[in-house]
Amino acid sequence: MPTRRLSPRPYAERKGRVWSLNSEGMSYVMGLSDSGQLANIYWGSRIDDETDFARPAGMRYPFELQSKMLREEYPAWGGPHYREACLKVRYNDRVRDCDLAFLEVSCGKSRSDVVAELGDEAYGLKVRLHYKLYDGYDLLAKHAEVLNVGRHPMRIESVLSAAWYLPSGRDWRLTHLAGAWGREMRLERDILTPGKKVIESRKGTTSHQANPVFFVDRGDADEAKGGVWFGCLAWSGSWKIVAEQDTYQQLTLVGGVNDFDFSYLLRPGECFRTPPFIAGYSSRGFGEASRKLHRFEVGNLLPRRFASSVRPVIFNTWEATVFDVDERRALQLARLSSRLGAECFVVDDGWFKGRKDSTGGLGDWVPDPEKFPHGLTPLVKSVNSMGMKFGIWVEPEMVNPKSQLYQAHPDWVYHFPNRKRTEMRSQLVLNLCDAEVADYVLKSMDELIGDNNIEYVKWDMNRYFSEPGWQRAPRGREQEVWVRHVDALYEILDRLRSRHPGVLFEGCSGGGGRIDLGALQRFDHFAGSDNTDPTEVLFTHEGFTMAYAPKTMLLCVGGSTNGLTGREVSLGYRFDFAMMGTLSMSLDIRGWNKEEFELAKRKVQFYKSIRKVVQNGDLYRLAPPSLDGICVREFVSRDSTEAVLFAFSHVLSKASAKTTVRLEGLRHSLRYGIEPGKVSLGGGYLMRHGVDINLGGDNDSVVYRLKGN
Ligand code: GLA
Repeated sequence: MPTRRLSPRPYAERKGRVWSLNSEGMSYVMGLSDSGQLANIYWGSRIDDETDFARPAGMRYPFELQSKMLREEYPAWGGPHYREACLKVRYNDRVRDCDLAFLEVSCGKSRSDVVAELGDEAYGLKVRLHYKLYDGYDLLAKHAEVLNVGRHPMRIESVLSAAWYLPSGRDWRLTHLAGAWGREMRLERDILTPGKKVIESRKGTTSHQANPVFFVDRGDADEAKGGVWFGCLAWSGSWKIVAEQDTYQQLTLVGGVNDFDFSYLLRPGECFRTPPFIAGYSSRGFGEASRKLHRFEVGNLLPRRFASSVRPVIFNTWEATVFDVDERRALQLARLSSRLGAECFVVDDGWFKGRKDSTGGLGDWVPDPEKFPHGLTPLVKSVNSMGMKFGIWVEPEMVNPKSQLYQAHPDWVYHFPNRKRTEMRSQLVLNLCDAEVADYVLKSMDELIGDNNIEYVKWDMNRYFSEPGWQRAPRGREQEVWVRHVDALYEILDRLRSRHPGVLFEGCSGGGGRIDLGALQRFDHFAGSDNTDPTEVLFTHEGFTMAYAPKTMLLCVGGSTNGLTGREVSLGYRFDFAMMGTLSMSLDIRGWNKEEFELAKRKVQFYKSIRKVVQNGDLYRLAPPSLDGICVREFVSRDSTEAVLFAFSHVLSKASAKTTVRLEGLRHSLRYGIEPGKVSLGGGYLMRHGVDINLGGDNDSVVYRLKGN
């Protein structure tokens, strides 16, 4: 079907103005109501013929104002408005009623960019709504700019990114991601009844407990079929998404920066820009929704330099040495890991001054003279001479009170006077809203990277915010910390990346505590979890890949007896699992026997031969993880000529060790050679009949490689 990139255009002045944004598989239609509001008319599967769309009109209900029942594109709190609003302001004369009227719609150069302007003219408040359609992905990004074009300051009490309206109906099902440290991003599903379901973080960062994404369906969608509406926020600070089902068959989702404890002063001439909220529609279930997001992330969001290149195989010292890393141990691990085929050697926590355990050192980013008497240079050189990149762990937003930095600048952390500064993991959060502090962080990281030929940075964040006091804040601005910290962090990362374009950045926050579409524009990939037990992390992989591309998930081969779960899992299984993302290893390989070495070497070599398909291909989640069944994942190259199939069993008592799995995404016309084995089967046969999988028992795994010809 030819792609029609429809411009937003008035189709019938007689009926009022209607604008539609159409991508290949999705239509988003809005219009101007009689009462002068810009309202959504339709969002969902593409409708080619637009002529039937009438201008929006609110339904009539007793006790409700008709114009307030519209699906307003940017609902502001004012008048009899009782639903969740995107904007709440307080004007200088203490009026707290916002009355936004439509001003105009204009279309950008590319014709897939639309800007709508609304205004509360009596007070000089203007809202610019930005729409950007990503045609090839059926995604629409919305964000708002709130401008003070008046003569007096005003205060924003809540400013969300966007509102999304589902077709009329109820009993919608919400799929979202919830978890905790060590068990991030597990799928949760709720049927929405009238009322509100709030998913959020008030922690200053994205958090382990919830993730800023939603998927909504009618309760009948599965991986391969059914309509799924979905959205992701591009924001790495406190956030909220509210799903509000009213008693009139309307489900609305609004989301953006969390307004809890938030307030923003807007002086004349100033503008507040919300983070984007990116949403889309899939008519082919959750699997296709995820693939649209994955392709979009790789094609548009990930830092461009490495977006489509394959990630290196990483060895990280953490699980091998914990804090006791030093030059001798690091060298020994580097030699061994390079023999395994690692391409990047990362010295994790413990390398810097005063860092014997978690109680000291954060903030003083120089090598510990006892552990690294010659600095990092000789180690970096040796690692480079083994053909590996050198990487380093840092946690730049943090400080331990037991550090030189804190001794010199105790006021550089968030705190309130006369209140305890709560330490978590013995550390406090640096106040990046303060330009002096942000400059220090940028400078210390810039020097560390530049002075040592560092080609990989693991950027960690091991606590949430508390006592968010900004003592040197300009008058009236102290509650802006929730956005200013994130803006400052983004700026530091953006500057570091432009000064050191060849450096890969891993995002980490106690494993997977800061993964979102904002972070994804600054980090090349993320630590998925501190938990390395595949039995557990398969569930996190399921949730993670709902929204985020597999190559952005670092999967780690950890020790044989898992430190968190006590489970013993074979080395082969651990490797097979970790091949479903960016492969890393973090375990003590110093005591390994020959067999272990040979097996690991073979696995790394095999991974290198399939990683292009895994990292840049399409993911099909053929069977979900379960504790008494078989989990199956298939990765298919974009041209469908290659595929990799993974299968994992947990406890086979309820499932069969032998099963036939139907594949997806292949070409009917091709025959696929399957390794291991010497079988060759047709694409049609593999997709309609399936391939036999034979697992040997509990905690067994197989990986098949398919090549079409
Ligand atoms: C966090 C990370 C780990 C490791 C430790 C070091 O928990 O998630 O991978 O880097 O910090 O302190």
